[in-house]
Amino acid sequence: MKTALRLLTVSLCICLLFYAAHLVSNTTALKLLPSLLAQPPLPTIFAITPTYARLVQKAELTRIANTFRQVPALHWIVVEDANETSKLVANILTKSQIPHTQLCVKTPKEITKSRGSVQRNLALGWLRKTFRPEDAPPGVVYFADDDNTYSLEIFEEMRYTRKVSVWPVAFVGGLLYESIKVNTQGKVYGWLVSFAPSRPFAIDMAGFAISLKLILEKHEAKFNLKANGGYQEPSLLQDLVTIDELEPKAENCSKIMVWHTKTQNPNIQKKDSFNTITEV
Ligand code: UGA
Ligand code: MN
Repeated sequence: MKTALRLLTVSLCICLLFYAAHLVSNTTALKLLPSLLAQPPLPTIFAITPTYARLVQKAELTRIANTFRQVPALHWIVVEDANETSKLVANILTKSQIPHTQLCVKTPKEITKSRGSVQRNLALGWLRKTFRPEDAPPGVVYFADDDNTYSLEIFEEMRYTRKVSVWPVAFVGGLLYESIKVNTQGKVYGWLVSFAPSRPFAIDMAGFAISLKLILEKHEAKFNLKANGGYQEPSLLQDLVTIDELEPKAENCSKIMVWHTKTQNPNIQKKDSFNTITEV
Protein backbone atom coordinates (compact mmCIF):
# COMPACT_ATOMS: atom_id res chain seq x y z
CA MET A 1 0.00 0.00 0.00
CA LYS A 2 2.81 2.34 1.02
CA THR A 3 4.70 1.58 -2.21
CA ALA A 4 1.59 2.22 -4.24
CA LEU A 5 1.11 5.59 -2.52
CA ARG A 6 4.77 6.48 -3.08
CA LEU A 7 4.46 5.50 -6.76
CA LEU A 8 1.35 7.64 -7.11
CA THR A 9 3.07 10.62 -5.47
CA VAL A 10 6.12 10.26 -7.71
CA SER A 11 4.06 10.02 -10.87
CA LEU A 12 1.95 12.98 -9.74
CA CYS A 13 5.15 14.96 -9.20
CA ILE A 14 6.43 13.99 -12.65
CA CYS A 15 3.11 15.04 -14.17
CA LEU A 16 3.26 18.36 -12.33
CA LEU A 17 6.83 18.88 -13.50
CA PHE A 18 5.86 18.21 -17.12
CA TYR A 19 2.86 20.54 -16.78
CA ALA A 20 5.05 23.28 -15.30
CA ALA A 21 7.61 22.84 -18.11
CA HIS A 22 4.77 22.97 -20.65
CA LEU A 23 3.42 26.19 -19.10
CA VAL A 24 6.85 27.84 -19.04
CA SER A 25 7.61 26.94 -22.63
CA ASN A 26 4.16 28.15 -23.66
CA THR A 27 4.58 31.52 -21.96
CA THR A 28 8.02 31.87 -23.54
CA ALA A 29 6.46 31.09 -26.89
CA LEU A 30 3.70 33.60 -26.11
CA LYS A 31 6.27 36.26 -25.28
CA LEU A 32 8.13 35.48 -28.48
CA LEU A 33 4.96 35.45 -30.57
CA PRO A 34 5.03 39.11 -31.71
CA SER A 35 8.62 38.81 -32.92
CA LEU A 36 7.87 35.43 -34.50
CA LEU A 37 4.92 36.97 -36.34
CA ALA A 38 6.76 40.20 -37.24
CA GLN A 39 7.20 40.49 -40.99
CA PRO A 40 9.98 42.45 -42.72
CA PRO A 41 8.72 45.99 -43.50
CA LEU A 42 6.69 46.41 -46.69
CA PRO A 43 8.68 48.13 -49.44
CA THR A 44 7.42 51.73 -49.76
CA ILE A 45 5.80 52.82 -53.01
CA PHE A 46 6.96 56.33 -53.93
CA ALA A 47 4.20 57.58 -56.24
CA ILE A 48 5.33 60.68 -58.15
CA THR A 49 2.49 62.88 -59.42
CA PRO A 50 3.06 66.01 -61.51
CA THR A 51 0.05 68.30 -61.37
CA TYR A 52 -1.00 71.73 -62.63
CA ALA A 53 -3.71 74.25 -61.81
CA ARG A 54 -6.87 73.85 -63.91
CA LEU A 55 -10.62 73.54 -63.37
CA VAL A 56 -10.55 69.80 -62.65
CA GLN A 57 -7.35 69.70 -60.58
CA LYS A 58 -9.06 69.36 -57.20
CA ALA A 59 -11.41 66.67 -58.53
CA GLU A 60 -8.55 64.67 -60.09
CA LEU A 61 -6.36 64.83 -56.98
CA THR A 62 -9.30 63.97 -54.72
CA ARG A 63 -10.04 60.95 -56.88
CA ILE A 64 -6.53 59.53 -56.82
CA ALA A 65 -6.04 60.42 -53.13
CA ASN A 66 -9.05 58.20 -52.44
CA THR A 67 -7.23 55.36 -54.19
CA PHE A 68 -3.79 56.00 -52.70
CA ARG A 69 -5.07 56.25 -49.11
CA GLN A 70 -6.06 52.59 -49.35
CA VAL A 71 -2.56 51.48 -50.32
CA PRO A 72 -0.31 50.55 -47.39
CA ALA A 73 3.23 51.96 -47.28
CA LEU A 74 2.71 54.54 -50.00
CA HIS A 75 4.54 57.86 -49.97
CA TRP A 76 2.99 60.41 -52.32
CA ILE A 77 5.34 62.92 -53.93
CA VAL A 78 3.21 65.61 -55.55
CA VAL A 79 5.06 68.10 -57.72
CA GLU A 80 3.12 71.17 -58.75
CA ASP A 81 3.88 72.81 -62.09
CA ALA A 82 4.10 76.22 -60.41
CA ASN A 83 6.54 78.64 -58.82
CA GLU A 84 4.97 78.14 -55.40
CA THR A 85 3.16 75.29 -53.71
CA SER A 86 -0.57 75.90 -53.34
CA LYS A 87 -2.95 75.73 -50.38
CA LEU A 88 -5.38 73.69 -52.50
CA VAL A 89 -2.87 70.86 -52.99
CA ALA A 90 -1.57 71.14 -49.41
CA ASN A 91 -5.11 70.74 -48.03
CA ILE A 92 -5.83 67.67 -50.16
CA LEU A 93 -2.57 66.09 -48.99
CA THR A 94 -3.16 66.82 -45.31
CA LYS A 95 -6.77 65.64 -45.39
CA SER A 96 -5.81 62.44 -47.20
CA GLN A 97 -3.54 61.43 -44.28
CA ILE A 98 -1.22 59.84 -46.85
CA PRO A 99 2.50 60.25 -46.02
CA HIS A 100 3.55 62.85 -48.58
CA THR A 101 6.00 65.42 -49.89
CA GLN A 102 4.80 68.53 -51.69
CA LEU A 103 7.21 70.11 -54.16
CA CYS A 104 6.96 72.60 -57.02
CA VAL A 105 8.79 73.67 -60.15
CA LYS A 106 7.44 75.68 -63.05
CA THR A 107 8.02 74.16 -66.47
CA PRO A 108 10.24 76.64 -68.35
CA LYS A 109 8.59 78.21 -71.44
CA GLU A 110 11.08 76.58 -73.81
CA ILE A 111 10.08 73.04 -72.67
CA THR A 112 7.09 72.33 -74.87
CA LYS A 113 7.34 68.64 -75.74
CA SER A 114 6.99 66.88 -72.42
CA ARG A 115 4.20 67.34 -69.90
CA GLY A 116 5.17 66.66 -66.31
CA SER A 117 8.79 65.63 -66.82
CA VAL A 118 10.42 68.70 -65.27
CA GLN A 119 8.35 67.83 -62.19
CA ARG A 120 9.24 64.11 -62.34
CA ASN A 121 12.95 64.96 -62.57
CA LEU A 122 12.64 67.18 -59.47
CA ALA A 123 11.06 64.26 -57.58
CA LEU A 124 13.92 61.96 -58.68
CA GLY A 125 16.33 64.58 -57.31
CA TRP A 126 14.41 64.67 -54.01
CA LEU A 127 14.68 60.87 -53.67
CA ARG A 128 18.42 61.03 -54.34
CA LYS A 129 18.87 63.79 -51.76
CA THR A 130 16.76 61.96 -49.18
CA PHE A 131 18.20 58.43 -49.46
CA ARG A 132 21.64 56.98 -50.03
CA PRO A 133 21.96 53.77 -52.09
CA GLU A 134 23.80 51.98 -49.23
CA ASP A 135 21.08 52.32 -46.61
CA ALA A 136 17.90 53.16 -48.52
CA PRO A 137 14.73 51.41 -47.32
CA PRO A 138 13.20 48.83 -49.68
CA GLY A 139 11.09 50.81 -52.12
CA VAL A 140 9.73 51.28 -55.61
CA VAL A 141 9.16 54.42 -57.69
CA TYR A 142 6.04 54.88 -59.82
CA PHE A 143 5.08 57.84 -62.03
CA ALA A 144 1.38 58.28 -61.31
CA ASP A 145 -0.14 61.08 -63.41
CA ASP A 146 -3.07 62.85 -61.77
CA ASP A 147 -5.64 61.92 -64.43
CA ASN A 148 -5.17 58.13 -64.72
CA THR A 149 -7.25 55.46 -62.97
CA TYR A 150 -5.40 53.03 -60.71
CA SER A 151 -6.63 49.71 -59.34
CA LEU A 152 -5.44 48.76 -55.87
CA GLU A 153 -3.96 45.56 -57.33
CA ILE A 154 -1.40 47.40 -59.45
CA PHE A 155 0.39 48.66 -56.32
CA GLU A 156 0.81 45.13 -54.96
CA GLU A 157 2.07 43.99 -58.39
CA MET A 158 4.81 46.61 -58.41
CA ARG A 159 5.76 46.52 -54.71
CA TYR A 160 8.49 43.87 -54.94
CA THR A 161 10.11 45.14 -58.17
CA ARG A 162 13.76 44.07 -58.34
CA LYS A 163 14.81 46.47 -61.13
CA VAL A 164 11.97 47.55 -63.45
CA SER A 165 8.55 45.92 -63.66
CA VAL A 166 6.10 46.39 -66.54
CA TRP A 167 2.39 45.77 -67.34
CA PRO A 168 -0.26 46.80 -69.89
CA VAL A 169 -2.04 50.18 -69.88
CA ALA A 170 -5.56 50.70 -71.27
CA PHE A 171 -6.74 53.55 -73.53
CA VAL A 172 -3.34 54.72 -74.77
CA GLY A 173 -1.51 55.23 -78.06
CA GLY A 174 -4.77 55.12 -80.04
CA LEU A 175 -5.51 51.57 -78.83
CA LEU A 176 -7.83 49.85 -76.41
CA TYR A 177 -4.62 48.95 -74.61
CA GLU A 178 -0.86 48.83 -75.13
CA SER A 179 0.89 45.73 -73.88
CA ILE A 180 4.13 43.80 -73.77
CA LYS A 181 5.36 40.68 -75.56
CA VAL A 182 6.25 38.06 -72.97
CA ASN A 183 7.58 34.61 -73.96
CA THR A 184 6.70 31.29 -72.30
CA GLN A 185 9.69 31.65 -69.97
CA GLY A 186 8.24 34.94 -68.69
CA LYS A 187 10.84 37.10 -70.49
CA VAL A 188 9.91 40.39 -72.16
CA TYR A 189 10.96 40.50 -75.82
CA GLY A 190 8.95 43.31 -77.42
CA TRP A 191 6.02 45.69 -77.45
CA LEU A 192 2.39 45.38 -78.46
CA VAL A 193 1.86 48.98 -79.54
CA SER A 194 0.79 50.89 -82.62
CA PHE A 195 2.61 54.20 -82.06
CA ALA A 196 6.37 54.10 -82.81
CA PRO A 197 6.90 50.37 -82.08
CA SER A 198 10.66 50.68 -82.69
CA ARG A 199 11.15 52.82 -79.58
CA PRO A 200 13.70 51.08 -77.29
CA PHE A 201 11.02 51.00 -74.54
CA ALA A 202 7.61 51.47 -76.16
CA ILE A 203 5.66 51.90 -72.95
CA ASP A 204 3.50 54.55 -71.30
CA MET A 205 4.50 56.25 -68.05
CA ALA A 206 1.73 54.36 -66.19
CA GLY A 207 3.06 50.97 -67.32
CA PHE A 208 6.25 50.56 -65.32
CA ALA A 209 7.83 50.95 -61.88
CA ILE A 210 11.49 51.15 -60.87
CA SER A 211 13.16 49.95 -57.69
CA LEU A 212 14.30 52.80 -55.44
CA LYS A 213 17.73 51.19 -55.19
CA LEU A 214 18.19 51.35 -58.98
CA ILE A 215 17.08 55.02 -59.07
CA LEU A 216 19.66 55.82 -56.39
CA GLU A 217 22.46 53.77 -57.93
CA LYS A 218 21.97 55.22 -61.43
CA HIS A 219 22.03 58.74 -60.06
CA GLU A 220 22.36 60.41 -63.47
CA ALA A 221 19.28 58.79 -65.03
CA LYS A 222 16.47 61.25 -65.72
CA PHE A 223 13.86 62.26 -68.30
CA ASN A 224 15.17 64.00 -71.38
CA LEU A 225 13.10 67.18 -71.53
CA LYS A 226 13.78 67.58 -75.24
CA ALA A 227 12.36 64.17 -76.13
CA ASN A 228 8.98 64.14 -77.89
CA GLY A 229 5.80 62.70 -76.36
CA GLY A 230 6.13 58.90 -76.22
CA TYR A 231 9.91 59.18 -76.12
CA GLN A 232 10.04 60.45 -72.51
CA GLU A 233 9.70 56.96 -71.05
CA PRO A 234 12.53 55.39 -73.13
CA SER A 235 14.76 58.39 -72.38
CA LEU A 236 14.76 57.34 -68.70
CA LEU A 237 14.47 53.56 -69.00
CA GLN A 238 17.37 53.12 -71.43
CA ASP A 239 19.75 54.35 -68.72
CA LEU A 240 18.38 51.86 -66.18
CA VAL A 241 17.75 48.42 -67.72
CA THR A 242 17.86 46.20 -70.77
CA ILE A 243 14.68 44.64 -72.22
CA ASP A 244 15.52 41.15 -70.96
CA GLU A 245 15.82 42.44 -67.39
CA LEU A 246 12.20 43.71 -67.33
CA GLU A 247 9.85 41.95 -64.90
CA PRO A 248 6.39 41.36 -66.40
CA LYS A 249 3.53 41.77 -63.89
CA ALA A 250 -0.28 41.58 -63.98
CA GLU A 251 -0.33 37.85 -64.78
CA ASN A 252 2.37 37.99 -67.44
CA CYS A 253 0.90 41.20 -68.85
CA SER A 254 -2.51 39.64 -69.48
CA LYS A 255 -4.57 41.88 -67.15
CA ILE A 256 -5.45 45.59 -67.18
CA MET A 257 -4.87 47.21 -63.79
CA VAL A 258 -4.35 50.83 -64.88
CA TRP A 259 -6.26 53.06 -67.33
CA HIS A 260 -4.92 56.13 -69.13
CA THR A 261 -8.15 58.06 -68.60
CA LYS A 262 -8.61 61.70 -69.55
CA THR A 263 -11.13 64.01 -67.96
CA GLN A 264 -13.17 66.16 -70.30
CA ASN A 265 -12.87 69.88 -69.69
CA PRO A 266 -16.14 71.04 -68.10
CA ASN A 267 -18.20 73.24 -70.36
CA ILE A 268 -18.66 76.35 -68.26
CA GLN A 269 -21.17 78.77 -69.78
CA LYS A 270 -21.05 81.42 -67.10
CA LYS A 271 -18.43 82.39 -64.58
CA ASP A 272 -19.55 82.00 -60.97
CA SER A 273 -22.33 84.51 -60.53
CA PHE A 274 -23.42 83.35 -57.07
CA ASN A 275 -20.23 84.05 -55.15
CA THR A 276 -21.17 81.57 -52.44
CA ILE A 277 -18.30 79.10 -52.92
CA THR A 278 -14.65 80.11 -53.01
CA GLU A 279 -13.00 76.87 -54.14
CA VAL A 280 -14.23 74.21 -56.59
C1 UGA B 1 1.01 61.22 -71.88
C2 UGA B 1 1.74 60.31 -70.90
O1 UGA B 1 0.84 59.41 -70.28
C3 UGA B 1 2.41 61.20 -69.85
O2 UGA B 1 2.95 60.42 -68.82
C4 UGA B 1 3.45 62.05 -70.54
O3 UGA B 1 4.08 62.91 -69.64
C5 UGA B 1 2.75 62.91 -71.59
O4 UGA B 1 1.94 62.09 -72.48
C6 UGA B 1 3.77 63.69 -72.38
O5 UGA B 1 4.84 63.15 -72.65
O6 UGA B 1 3.52 64.84 -72.71
P1 UGA B 1 -1.10 62.84 -71.32
O7 UGA B 1 -2.33 62.25 -70.75
O8 UGA B 1 -1.12 63.26 -72.75
O9 UGA B 1 0.09 61.86 -71.03
O10 UGA B 1 -0.57 64.08 -70.44
P2 UGA B 1 -1.24 64.78 -69.20
O11 UGA B 1 -2.02 63.82 -68.40
O12 UGA B 1 -1.92 66.02 -69.67
O13 UGA B 1 0.05 65.20 -68.36
C7 UGA B 1 0.87 64.27 -67.69
C8 UGA B 1 1.09 64.72 -66.26
O14 UGA B 1 1.77 65.98 -66.24
C9 UGA B 1 -0.20 64.92 -65.45
O15 UGA B 1 -0.04 64.44 -64.14
C10 UGA B 1 -0.43 66.42 -65.48
O16 UGA B 1 -1.10 66.94 -64.34
C11 UGA B 1 1.00 66.94 -65.53
N1 UGA B 1 1.12 68.24 -66.26
C12 UGA B 1 0.52 68.40 -67.46
C13 UGA B 1 1.85 69.26 -65.70
O17 UGA B 1 2.40 69.12 -64.60
N2 UGA B 1 1.94 70.46 -66.38
C14 UGA B 1 1.32 70.66 -67.58
O18 UGA B 1 1.44 71.79 -68.14
C15 UGA B 1 0.59 69.61 -68.13
MN1 MN C 1 -2.92 61.99 -68.79
